[in-house]
This record gives sequence, structure tokens and C-alpha cells, in this order.
Amino acid sequence: MTGQDIPKIAAFRQNLRDYRVPYLPFGSTLGPAEIEAVTQVISSGETLSGGAWRTRFEDDFRASVGARHAMSVTSGTVALEFAIHLLDLRPGDEVVVTPQTYQATIQPLLQYPDVRVRFCDVKEDTLNLDPESLRKLLNDKTRAIILVHYGGLPAEMDAVMELARERGILVIEDSAHALGSSYHGRRPGSLADIGCFSFHSSKNITTLGEGGMLTFANDDWVDRIERLRGNEADAVFVARDHRFGTSREPLPGALYPGHSYTHDCVALLRHGTNATLSEAAAAVGVAQLRSLPDFVARRRMIAQRLREVLADYPGLVAAVTEPDGVEQSQHLFTFFVRAPERLSRERLIHELAERGVQVPIRYFPLHLTPEWRSRGHRYGECPTAERLWFDEQMNLPCHPGLSDKQVDLLCELLGDALRAALC
Ligand SMILES: Cc1ncc(COP(=O)(O)O)c(C=O)c1O
Repeated sequence: MTGQDIPKIAAFRQNLRDYRVPYLPFGSTLGPAEIEAVTQVISSGETLSGGAWRTRFEDDFRASVGARHAMSVTSGTVALEFAIHLLDLRPGDEVVVTPQTYQATIQPLLQYPDVRVRFCDVKEDTLNLDPESLRKLLNDKTRAIILVHYGGLPAEMDAVMELARERGILVIEDSAHALGSSYHGRRPGSLADIGCFSFHSSKNITTLGEGGMLTFANDDWVDRIERLRGNEADAVFVARDHRFGTSREPLPGALYPGHSYTHDCVALLRHGTNATLSEAAAAVGVAQLRSLPDFVARRRMIAQRLREVLADYPGLVAAVTEPDGVEQSQHLFTFFVRAPERLSRERLIHELAERGVQVPIRYFPLHLTPEWRSRGHRYGECPTAERLWFDEQMNLPCHPGLSDKQVDLLCELLGDALRAALC
């Protein structure tokens, strides 16, 4: 140890936090406003579940996204389960999905063994669904498209929606990363038929660790989601007395007191569950939503700093960039190592890890996971997604929980690691 190291060690002790660059924020955006919100809920003496805060959060969210309806649930996973249920898939239907996302985006489709899932390749500069590959996969059996706005960068929705609308195909936007992003003046979650959001503690806002939201325009789905999240079945009913016909509506109370569904149900489409977002979580959501523009601005500022470091290595690395008219929330910061003969990704990951910077690669192509391989999916189905994951893509920490010092440190360490990884 040299004398010069001593001030550094003192500073390290003083503020240990500034010398680590955690990959995930984990609640670091929660502050006095959120504590005040929870205190208000607890001291109000009002219900802790399914009350005014949930309604307020949903109203604020609807306004923020520009959607006709917003209904909260307990996680992004549940939002996606409900969204996929609303597609009313039948045996023989086909659904086109992205392979480049978190598994929850498409996991519910494993419950439909008679529905064919087709993985669509992604674009090499964005990791979003490639509209040209998509077009080739559509046919008269295609019922739905499920995509993600990868890392918060909106997918090419004009092209996707044109293909979908021409053919009467429903589109689910997994917007778990894209709260606060914009696409030609509109928000993800309002660009297709159903938007699904997550408020896990790693996301752009959090409702105390877990939470989710569905956004949509179809009025008929309000009642169906209300039932599903409130432990009631979403079912098609036929009255024993056929004067009442077939309906999703509860049968007349006088004849069938207390919604005695079981006697009259001919098609139970799905059981319900309890997916009620708690009042404390919803109140925190209201506070977090107010801070969303600041959180996104900070994410974008950090991404810009990282991009500036990468710009010193033209042709070797390239960050995901946004097209004109599009703003990404920068939920993830992703870049690609493009010249392996001059700069090795494995070496770069190693050099960053040596310096204490975690470098996960988001996400492993889903068609290659055991659950989808067991359904017949194989290597070679999505060549671009595979090449990117196995050879090129990398993610770096980028979230509002990073202090200014941590951002400086991250940029310094990234520069060091890049120099060390050059061949
Ligand atoms: C793209 C994407 N979809 C869905 C989810 C699932 O959300 P949750 O963790 O709230 O269930 C996540 C969360 O990690 C995600 O990143």
C-alpha cells in the first residue's frame, strides 16, 4: 500500500456505498413521500385493501399512460396471466412472441398445450421484435402477438399494429420496462390492445416491492378482470332456464341467490385469484408515479454518460439508441460488442467483474429454456436473438439509485475495463 492510497481508503470508509455499483436499485427511490403515504394509509382507519388509494392509483396511472382503463394487480406476472387469458385462445390458434424478454411475458402460454407458440426474431440494434420477421410468421391462425419494449425502448409499434390490425390480431405490450417511455407522443401501454406493467422493486416505479397493472381500451374486459382479481371465476354461464341465454353476467339473484355459478356454468374459462394490490402499495404507487419523470430523467442521464464512454471505441461497441420521436425510459442500459477480434466480450465481462461491476446479460432467449425446448423449440429458430445473447449483448447498472459518485465510478471502471479487454 502506498501513501497515496490512504485518502482513498478514508473516503471509502466514509462512504462505502459510493464505491460499489449495484446492478439493481431495490427500493432506493423510496423516500419521505412514500413513508408519508404509508403513514396516511395506516393512520386513516380505512380499509387496507381494495379502497380509495387503489382507485386513485389506477386513475393516475390511466392518465399517465393515456389508456382508457387501468386495473392494478399484485405483479407484472399476474397482469400477463390475465392478459393472456383475455385473448380467449382456442386449440389450433397461434401466438407470435418475442424470445428476448423475461420469462413471465410468455409463461402463461405453457398452460395452452394446443396453442402453437411461434418465436419471432429480434432486431440486432434494439432487441425488439423485428416487424419483417413478424410478417413472415403471421397466418390465418394467428390470434395474438406478445411483445416487450425491451429495456424501455418502444418496439416498432406502427409497423406491428399495421400487420395486426389488417388481420384482426390482438397485441399485448409487455410494458414492464417502458413506464415513462414515449413513442411519437404516445405512451407504451396505450399503443396496442393490452398493456402489462410491473412494479417490482427493480422497475421504473415500485409499489413496495411487488405490484402490476393492466391497461386497455375494451370496456368488456373491466368486469372480467374485476372477477379474476377478486377470486371469482371468469366463466360463460347458461341458465338452467334457457330464457336467460348465454352470458358472462351474473344470473338473476332471485333465481340464483348469491351468484350460485357452479350449477349453471357450462364453460369455466378460468378460476379467479386474489390479486388485490394493498392500499399501502397503491398509495406508494401514487407517490412514485409523481416522481416518475425525475426517475426517468436520471436513468437517461446515466445512460448518456455510459454512451459517452463507449463512444471512445467506435466500431467495437454500440449502445441501443432511440430513433427519432421515441424516448426510452432506459430501464436497462444495453450495449453490444461488435468486433470480437478486437475486443472480447468475455474478457470485458471479466474485467468489469474484477472491478466489482455486475454485468448480467438480459435475457436468455426463451425458446432455448427447458420449458420451451420441451415444447419442440430449438436453437436456430431466432438466429439474431441467439447471436446477440451468446456473443454480443451486455447490460450495465443504470438506475436512479446510483449516486453521482457511483455514476462517476462506473464510467471510470467501464473505461478501464474496455482498455483492458482490447485484444
Ligand atoms: C419484461 C418483464 N415482464 C414481466 C415481468 C414480471 O413482473 P413481476 O416481477 O412484477 O411479476 C418482468 C419482471 O421482472 C419483466 O422484466
